[in-house]
Amino acid sequence: MLSFYVHIPYCIKRCGYCDFNTYTPSELQDGATLEIVSGDYIDAVLKELESAPREAVPTIFFGGGTPSLLPPKDLGRVITAIKERNGLIQDCEITLEANPDSVTPEKLQGFIDAGFNRISFGMQSAKPHVLAALDRTHNPENVKKAVDAARVVGFSSISVDLIYGTPGESLDDWRETLTAALELDIDHISAYALIVEEGTKLAARIKR
Ligand SMILES: C[S@@+](CC[C@H](N)C(=O)[O-])C[C@H]1O[C@@H](n2cnc3c(N)ncnc32)[C@H](O)[C@@H]1O
Ligand code: SF4
Repeated sequence: MLSFYVHIPYCIKRCGYCDFNTYTPSELQDGATLEIVSGDYIDAVLKELESAPREAVPTIFFGGGTPSLLPPKDLGRVITAIKERNGLIQDCEITLEANPDSVTPEKLQGFIDAGFNRISFGMQSAKPHVLAALDRTHNPENVKKAVDAARVVGFSSISVDLIYGTPGESLDDWRETLTAALELDIDHISAYALIVEEGTKLAARIKR
């Protein structure tokens, strides 16, 4: 059965461990902002959609990068186009990957209005020293705020991503992270073993 994955290749800052296809504002052309680039990128996604089969879909997943950085109305253009062209199977799951720092209650409401019903937050760890080793920008307290705000605006499914095996992370740290995640109002956890990807800042630090 056909489903769509829509890649949104933008982040505020590249995390030290990540080798995903993503660009930061400093890597954009002079004068370009994420808002400007967003419209053009979505136009390109809509053009690519034209080459896809025309079956109704049960899921659409917007991943990244950090899709939650883009204006909800731009992502909504893709959902509307898929809906009109392919059709959505009843209860189609439409997921947004989000950085806990890049959402506000207003923006979350915008994503609901655009058609999203599931959100996945990059929590990674509840321990500040582990987040620092991962070169993450977010404050761990923002995760609970973001999850609660997502429930209030009506997301029916909320997930968090965790990473385990970070240098300096003890078993007790990981236990505390899992406990903190389980205390959140979520219904899914994706837990990834840290992969030290060649060419990343983390790989260079470990080599040194
Ligand atoms: C596209 S990101 C999620 C959304 C958002 N960009 C964020 O990081 O908050 C998908 C997930 O992949 C995982 N990930 C990325 N690079 C990884 C690596 N080198 N090893 C293990 N997990 C990784 C992280 O858990 C991350 O949340
Ligand atoms: S982990 Fe997420 S926020 Fe960090 S660089 Fe990769 S895609 Fe961007």
